[in-house]
Amino acid sequence: MKHSHDNNAFLQSPLRHSYPPMSTDSNFSASAQADSSHPAPATPAAADTPPHNTADNQAHTSRPGPGHKPPPEGVYLRTIKSYVLRAGRMGTGQIKAFELYGPRFQVPFTPHRHFDPVAAFGRSAPLVLEIGFGMGDATAKIAHARPGDDFLCCEVHEPGVGALLKRCGEENIGNIRILRHDAVEVLEQMLPAAQADGSGALLDGVHIFFPDPWHKTKHNKRRLIQPALVAKLAARLKPGGYIHCATDWEPYAQQMLEVLSAEPLLQNTSTDLALAGYAPKPDYRPLTKFENRGLKLGHGVWDLVFARR
Ligand SMILES: C[S@@+](CC[C@H](N)C(=O)[O-])C[C@H]1O[C@@H](n2cnc3c(N)ncnc32)[C@H](O)[C@@H]1O
Repeated sequence: MKHSHDNNAFLQSPLRHSYPPMSTDSNFSASAQADSSHPAPATPAAADTPPHNTADNQAHTSRPGPGHKPPPEGVYLRTIKSYVLRAGRMGTGQIKAFELYGPRFQVPFTPHRHFDPVAAFGRSAPLVLEIGFGMGDATAKIAHARPGDDFLCCEVHEPGVGALLKRCGEENIGNIRILRHDAVEVLEQMLPAAQADGSGALLDGVHIFFPDPWHKTKHNKRRLIQPALVAKLAARLKPGGYIHCATDWEPYAQQMLEVLSAEPLLQNTSTDLALAGYAPKPDYRPLTKFENRGLKLGHGVWDLVFARR
């Protein structure tokens, strides 16, 4: 497999590129809960606990079966989550950032109410959804590098949200808004799917950089990049919009390539046969903390860029 750093020639932001037609979560609970968005903190060891195999224990990738009744509004069934909420300690700067910059840069999770980008950003611009920004270093750099685009950034890790809020405030990064919530629920409840003719979608791009690899086979079901989620993402992209994923875990890269390639609404933008379906690293994506760590461990890094037909 070709390493994505072998080729740095891909320069443009995909939004200006015209593509061809293209934690400690122990949320394996079987019971319905009033709010699954704030799973109870648990120890990292608990994350290795195998899921109980019950009918209600559905991954976010599963679909309701016959006879399924949706829960009343505001009540969510607990599902297998792609993250583990760790009781990370917030620094004083991060705590202060919530107070100082939260009102400007955070947007609330509004179940069943669609996100209004013009109201949130005060302008109409291409909109990119980022899932899982970690401490937000790459996010801040990308937002600086692409001032004409707006970034709606989801993260559940509170210190990470604090860190990015701090940067947004101190560096006056006006094209970022932060949603501290499970991106899967944000997608389902706040972002409309496109109509059959492609109209009505809000997203021009999706960034998912170094999502938790969930190495163990028994935890693979927690991975974000699965067919149902990719179908939901694709349905929320405008025609020509893109999904950009990156990982340093080869088996996950292979899963990403397989899942993204199988989604009928998407088309691979990588045409370089030598890269075997992977994309050269787009210039707008800087090295992230996780990537640096992976590179030091001798891992490869794989970028994948698919476009909505
Ligand atoms: C391995 S880190 C990578 C962070 C960052 N993208 C980077 O490259 O440094 C994955 C992040 O995704 C977040 N995450 C996982 N599932 C999520 C979800 N469903 N919604 C929001 N954030 C999520 C985790 O909290 C974690 O911070």
